[in-house]
Amino acid sequence: MKTIFSGIQPSGTITLGNYIGAMKQFVELQEEYNSFLCVVDQHAITVAQDKQQLRKNIKSLAALYLASGIDPEKSTLFIQSEVPAHAQAGWMLQCITYIGELERMTQFKDKSEGKEAVSAGLLTYPPLMAADILLYKTDLVPVGEDQKQHLELTRDLAERFNKKYNDIFTIPDVRIAKVGARVMSLQEPTKKMSKSDPNSKAFITLLDEPKQIEKKIKSAVTDSDGIVKYDKDNKPGVSNLLSIYSILSGETIDHLEKKYEGKGYGEFKGDLAEVVVDTIKPIQDRYYELINSEELDHILDRGAEKANFVANKMVKKMEKALGLGRKKK
Ligand code: TYM
Repeated sequence: MKTIFSGIQPSGTITLGNYIGAMKQFVELQEEYNSFLCVVDQHAITVAQDKQQLRKNIKSLAALYLASGIDPEKSTLFIQSEVPAHAQAGWMLQCITYIGELERMTQFKDKSEGKEAVSAGLLTYPPLMAADILLYKTDLVPVGEDQKQHLELTRDLAERFNKKYNDIFTIPDVRIAKVGARVMSLQEPTKKMSKSDPNSKAFITLLDEPKQIEKKIKSAVTDSDGIVKYDKDNKPGVSNLLSIYSILSGETIDHLEKKYEGKGYGEFKGDLAEVVVDTIKPIQDRYYELINSEELDHILDRGAEKANFVANKMVKKMEKALGLGRKKK
């Protein structure tokens, strides 16, 4: 059985973008892959976090994985900081990464632009992400489009290590969904939807109330021609809403364009809000059952145990390949 690995940062409540671009894929893929799914809390601290809020977000994200359909019998769900091998492997990979490679990462450029104090962790984040993936002999990494560059670097680092030290890493492929790999902001549809956007009207989270969802969709930026048509360049707002509608309802974009021919944006947005609420409501019901349950802690304990077992073996191999520690007699 082939293996997938993926992670989500607990830096806020996950958005419809994370759900469509990542989570939905994980739920489908766990049926045919050995799956490792991670709450990457060590990644979240590359920018300042409030400690109480971070604690809350970590558990909340774990509960949302399960509530969205991740089955702990099929997938190993765990928290990154509970598996120290990630930081250990991250350090070793940092030592074979060039600063120039890290400075070229667009996510680093975006997140550091105009900031006075940028943490070294924000720069050295990609080798930690590579470690996450490579520790589990991952064949495939399902992610949204914004992670593509980090995945390319992961492959480069794995190949570099294999060539220079010992051939121990599987080279992972990236899997980016054909539609929905880049869900856009509801307020600035040329920017991706992000859980850390300061304008909360720009994104929908999986824990938004139905009324909030309706309001956010109704106030989503569109255009003035009043035609429901997919045209990414000239009608980015409407095209984004059409993509979301199509993915969540299973109806094709062509079909939706016909359905709303001659109708205004009001009706289209009203129906879309219903589709989004229908998707999110069952997730929320399950979430509230899980969030304070012992079951959640048990699942995370078991996940950490399984992940530690697999990841520690790879760390030992890496140390051996690099010549760290003492040679076992
Ligand atoms: P993060 O937490 O920003 O996002 C989690 C996942 O959601 C996808 N995503 C989106 N997809 C579609 N439209 C959007 N607007 C959108 N916003 C986010 C992301 O592409 C991602 O798949 N570095 C990663 C976390 C990570 C990771 C890993 C991922 C750490 N280690 C190892 C895969 C494998 C990140 O910051 O994701």
